[in-house]
Amino acid sequence: MRKLAAGNWKMNGTRAALSELEALAQAHPTPSVDILICPPATLVQPAAALLADAAVAIGGQDCHMARAGAHTGDIAAAQLADAGATAVIVGHSERREDHGETSDVVREKANAAHDAGLIAVICVGETLAERDAGHTLDVIGAQLAASLPETCTAANTVIAYEPVWAIGTGKMPTLDQIAEVHGFLRDTLAARFGDSEAAGMRLLYGGSVKATNAAEIFAVANVDGALVGGASLREDDFSQIISALQDAL
Ligand code: PGA
Repeated sequence: MRKLAAGNWKMNGTRAALSELEALAQAHPTPSVDILICPPATLVQPAAALLADAAVAIGGQDCHMARAGAHTGDIAAAQLADAGATAVIVGHSERREDHGETSDVVREKANAAHDAGLIAVICVGETLAERDAGHTLDVIGAQLAASLPETCTAANTVIAYEPVWAIGTGKMPTLDQIAEVHGFLRDTLAARFGDSEAAGMRLLYGGSVKATNAAEIFAVANVDGALVGGASLREDDFSQIISALQDAL
């Protein structure tokens, strides 16, 4: 499978930030890994247009579960696809926390993404209290069971393991802890979708990934890339992470 370096810009960036994308595309004309940037919704269309001929794909950060309708402020998966997105993040812990999104909602969103022809980047991860209580795999198992629709395939689904306590904090699980969760993800996916689909699903680690720790994370078994927040905002930072992923092949 192609490894994936994905960037999540969150609520950062105006049109001025398109120059970072242009620089990113120029720095990686023929990458040996997939590159995805999920800018804020306002930038999806201009970014996709700017990068139409580049090896950097554009995604959304969230979509609504409904195909269309009276949902003020929301964006349908088909609208993201129409704007040029090829993927969308669903179930990010900031959405789960800030907007009360349950795994049932996340599953409906992932299903809507698949129906629109988008890759769903489905996020799971435990809080620090859950980890300290020894419940990490139980929590992630429950999130996986409820957040993944039946439409998941190797081609249309990416799973991001993002410990809530590692996001934007500079804190990181140990490499053994990452290996444990990623092995559990692969086994759980295989039990539900079969070995060959599960083997092809990219499993990303996310949470305080930066140039200085990327190489060691990418050496962990069953880590097929990263979902990067803060260190994806600037081309030079993210390029170093992309290079580390390419070097890990
Ligand atoms: P971070 O965010 O890299 O800034 O920790 C990761 C994420 O939330 O996807």
